[in-house]
Amino acid sequence: MAKFLVTGGAGFIGGNFLHIMVNKYPNDQYVCIDALTYAGNMETLAPIMKKPNFKFVHENICNREAVFKLFEEEKFDYVINFAAESHVDRSIENPEIFLRTNILGTQVLMDACREYGIKRYHQVSTDEVYGDLPLDRPDLFFHEDTPIHTSSPYSASKASADLLVLAYHRTFKLPVTISRCSNNYGPYHFPEKLIPLMIQKALRNEPLPVYGKGENVRDWLYVGDHCTAIDLVVRHGRDGEVYNIGGHNERTNLEVVKTILKALGKPETLITYVKDRPGHDLRYAMDPTKIETELGWKPEHNFDTGIQATIKWNLENQEWLKHVESGEYMNWLERQYK
Ligand code: NAD
Ligand code: TYD
Repeated sequence: MAKFLVTGGAGFIGGNFLHIMVNKYPNDQYVCIDALTYAGNMETLAPIMKKPNFKFVHENICNREAVFKLFEEEKFDYVINFAAESHVDRSIENPEIFLRTNILGTQVLMDACREYGIKRYHQVSTDEVYGDLPLDRPDLFFHEDTPIHTSSPYSASKASADLLVLAYHRTFKLPVTISRCSNNYGPYHFPEKLIPLMIQKALRNEPLPVYGKGENVRDWLYVGDHCTAIDLVVRHGRDGEVYNIGGHNERTNLEVVKTILKALGKPETLITYVKDRPGHDLRYAMDPTKIETELGWKPEHNFDTGIQATIKWNLENQEWLKHVESGEYMNWLERQYK
């Protein structure tokens, strides 16, 4: 039996991770801490709230005192840090909270790991730390040793955290791993991000806002495949190593939007070109050879199957989406503490 701390588990990827792992490993204990920012949603955790091997703690990873107390009480074996501010557009509006949560929050967690001892600290990172690739060089990919070269306050904060994690490994011998994944999509995705936003807008016959010319390329991975990759790295990865995660599913934004419109039987006239994002990264593309060969990871979904599963989930879970859109999901805190 092992005890896991999962931070940011009320968010999109952490939530999916917990759904899978709490059921897959009934003898392991999973404790989730989440600050419940606008991106944290207790309705995402509802299916596992009553599981005997799951516990939720409402807390901010930047709160050193509370985090240390939790470590002292729970004696974690593994810490997996999903907690972050994650939306590039918001980081352009207001960078500060990104630096606080993504960098200083990471430091607090690692300091607690040093103080109380753990088997592994795992940092959930992103392909965005590598910057972008040109559109006219499809032969180029991000490798684990591609230089860090960030574009947005979001990616700069994630890259800073990665460097700090590697520094704690080198200086303090903290047993760490880092995974850097490409763009995720799937169930419980907050509808400010491209895919769920476009599905919701298309369903309402509203204009679909495509930034610039829609030529930017993202390498899409179904969220469940990201979760199984993290589980492999945490349990079997080598200390101090970085693992890239991706499934070679590159699509232009326009291709993604057209796929969604087609699946929903909606006209392409809904596509509206809007002002481009400042500093907009052109292309992300991962080389996942290391995790495939070293840990035997293989994704279950490609983009064609994953996007259909995602559209189906969104159609069947309109209540979850409507609660997010109306803000009703935020009422959990009020109901809980009344
Ligand atoms: P998300 O925004 O959906 O969820 C983030 C969660 O963290 C929320 O539940 C939020 O309440 C919580 N949180 C934020 N600040 C906190 C704090 N200070 N203390 C405690 N909890 C806090 O994000 P996501 O898409 O699930 O991403 C999870 C992780 O994966 C992030 O670290 C992100 O950088 C990384 N990542 C995301 C993608 C992607 O495509 N979404 C791709 C690669 C890597
Ligand atoms: P996003 O989902 O925000 O992820 P990231 O910026 O981390 O890759 O955006 C994915 C791509 O879609 C990105 O190139 C920006 C673009 N985009 C739009 O064209 N319109 C939108 O309304 C949004 C949210 C994103």
